[in-house]
Amino acid sequence: MEGYEGWDEYAPFYDWENARTLGRRDVPFWRRFALEAGGPVLELGAGTGRVAAPLGRAGVPLTGIDRSEAMLARARRRTARAGARRHVRLVRGDIRHLPFSSGAFAAVMAPYGVLQSLLRERDLAATLRSVHQVLQRGGAFGLELVADLPAWEEYRRRISLRGWKQGRDGARVTLVETVRQDRARRLTIFDQEFTEREGRRRRTSRFALTFRTLTVPQMARRLEKAGFTVTALLGDYRGGPWDRRAEVWMILARNC
Ligand SMILES: C[S@@+](CC[C@H](N)C(=O)[O-])C[C@H]1O[C@@H](n2cnc3c(N)ncnc32)[C@H](O)[C@@H]1O
Repeated sequence: MEGYEGWDEYAPFYDWENARTLGRRDVPFWRRFALEAGGPVLELGAGTGRVAAPLGRAGVPLTGIDRSEAMLARARRRTARAGARRHVRLVRGDIRHLPFSSGAFAAVMAPYGVLQSLLRERDLAATLRSVHQVLQRGGAFGLELVADLPAWEEYRRRISLRGWKQGRDGARVTLVETVRQDRARRLTIFDQEFTEREGRRRRTSRFALTFRTLTVPQMARRLEKAGFTVTALLGDYRGGPWDRRAEVWMILARNC
């Protein structure tokens, strides 16, 4: 089982689902973070360009890396539509082995739980080492963890979303979801079944997405061990402080 699996299959549904969940609530935060860096910024797991496109549009010189070609293909179209292609470079690669030179970036960002796709301790350690290396000395590293995945209720085949894709003339989409907890390995597994109905046509895609969660203090300790200094724990996108009940889990650090 690998955390990068499932994303190619998820790509056609990612924006549809996210428009109904997180949406763009975190984008102003990341725009401020990236503009304050005052130099080139790297986004780990850029996905469909949900964050990269608006940041590129704001003039941030941004490189987005992702393993999934299907997600990146969407990001390319999205950045073109946003008129941001001049500022955004999209690279296919693995965040555990970043293919960039030492000190290439003024800031690195990991929005929306991308580090939770690293299912083993050694994958996280390799990624933090790699980020430390490509970040300029004193550069900022910002990451968000999707809050408390292990507390996610387990359920079987629940209809968790239903709606129209691309307007009322598009396909009618239903997501049937099963959530499993592997407590021994601290993994939360989402079995996804998306069904698209368009007239008499019906198509079903099934895949699983797996995440590992560390608490904010546990992740902060990993960052310190990898040579970062943690500068803030945030509990909302306006910069408010984090506590255990916060719905948003953000960590800011510097490599100095
Ligand atoms: C939750 S999505 C985040 C996308 C985007 N940053 C956003 O906020 O909408 C996580 C992304 O990380 C990518 N990913 C997961 N594991 C990866 C790895 N080891 N290397 C590179 N990309 C990875 C997936 O393909 C997926 O596009």
